[in-house]
Amino acid sequence: MRFIGNKTKLLSYINDILSKHDALPGSHFFDFFAGTASVGKYFKKKGYIVSSSDILYFSYVLQRAYIGNTGQPEFKELLNVLPEIGSNKLISSNYELVLEYLNDIPGEQGFIYQNYTEEGTKDSPQKRMFFKGDNGKKIDAVRRTIEEWHINAFINEDEYYVLLATIVESVPFYANISGVYAAFLKSYDPRAKKDLMLRPIDLSSTGPVGEAFNVNSMEIIDDIDTDILYLDPPYNARQYAPNYHLLETIARYDNPTIKGVAGIRPYADQKSEFCNKATAIVALDNIAKTAKYKILALSYNTEGIMAQQDILKTLSQYGEAQVYEVDYRRFKSNSNGNSEKKTHIKEQLYILKPF
Ligand SMILES: C[S@@+](CC[C@H](N)C(=O)[O-])C[C@H]1O[C@@H](n2cnc3c(N)ncnc32)[C@H](O)[C@@H]1O
Repeated sequence: MRFIGNKTKLLSYINDILSKHDALPGSHFFDFFAGTASVGKYFKKKGYIVSSSDILYFSYVLQRAYIGNTGQPEFKELLNVLPEIGSNKLISSNYELVLEYLNDIPGEQGFIYQNYTEEGTKDSPQKRMFFKGDNGKKIDAVRRTIEEWHINAFINEDEYYVLLATIVESVPFYANISGVYAAFLKSYDPRAKKDLMLRPIDLSSTGPVGEAFNVNSMEIIDDIDTDILYLDPPYNARQYAPNYHLLETIARYDNPTIKGVAGIRPYADQKSEFCNKATAIVALDNIAKTAKYKILALSYNTEGIMAQQDILKTLSQYGEAQVYEVDYRRFKSNSNGNSEKKTHIKEQLYILKPF
């Protein structure tokens, strides 16, 4: 998924450095700021016992599907009560049969249609164009159906989270945005004009079943006792909750009171201390001081709001700290866009081995 700070392209780099520090499959790996769950998914596949947490509920949904699930969902009870789902013999897995069924259900004028489509908001003071009308209706119908199946116990917990993760992963392919949900585009991107289809998520990540948490990580540092504590907090002042509010609302489907041009849900309790220079370093200090770990690894970059010398000074109080840097081919332009003056932003991995 497109997500600010997604580490998919850096996974083998992170793994190489951790291996140099004697991290071994079979050890416990805690992904403390999980986001898309890409890091936990990768280390689970490598045989680590993964726990992960994030303050966003849609991240928890992804973690539950990728880290906390017990293999391919069977949907036995659902196929029992809705035998029509199982009629297409050309589709091999029950999961894909269920998606085929959901892809065919008629759309509904629910919360997403009414608040985030041009058609649904045409009579309200605030018009929004996050989705084409039919796709908004489709999201509503699929999301309500999943909830109904769960309430009626037609699907178990694992199946519920796999289906929620499927809609969370599919929606971005049809959203009329340039990257985040803090604004919509004023005309339709070709992506948004396509008919929304649920796409199967990759459930091939075998490995030990892990645990997922939907909490502010700072509230659980007293309970952390792990081999590898991996930290990938926000790097700058941009809060994640307002930028991904629509994925949060689709995952929760809780009819929030929304505000403003983008229809953002309340997020006062989802603000990150890592988005503020002063509180970020205090939070890092708290984690390094309080949690128990054999290796602490922190992903960051050279443009982050915590300065390198402050990070090293903080970590060095608790052990031997060092920083690795990789040229990640992202550029920071100077104000007049002169390419000769562009500077590389380096992605960093800090390693702390406690005394
Ligand atoms: C840089 S992103 C993580 C990206 C992730 N490693 C990936 O590959 O997708 C930072 C994440 O930290 C989460 N976050 C920020 N502050 C948090 C906190 N105090 N507790 C839990 N999660 C937090 C955000 O919701 C966001 O998902």
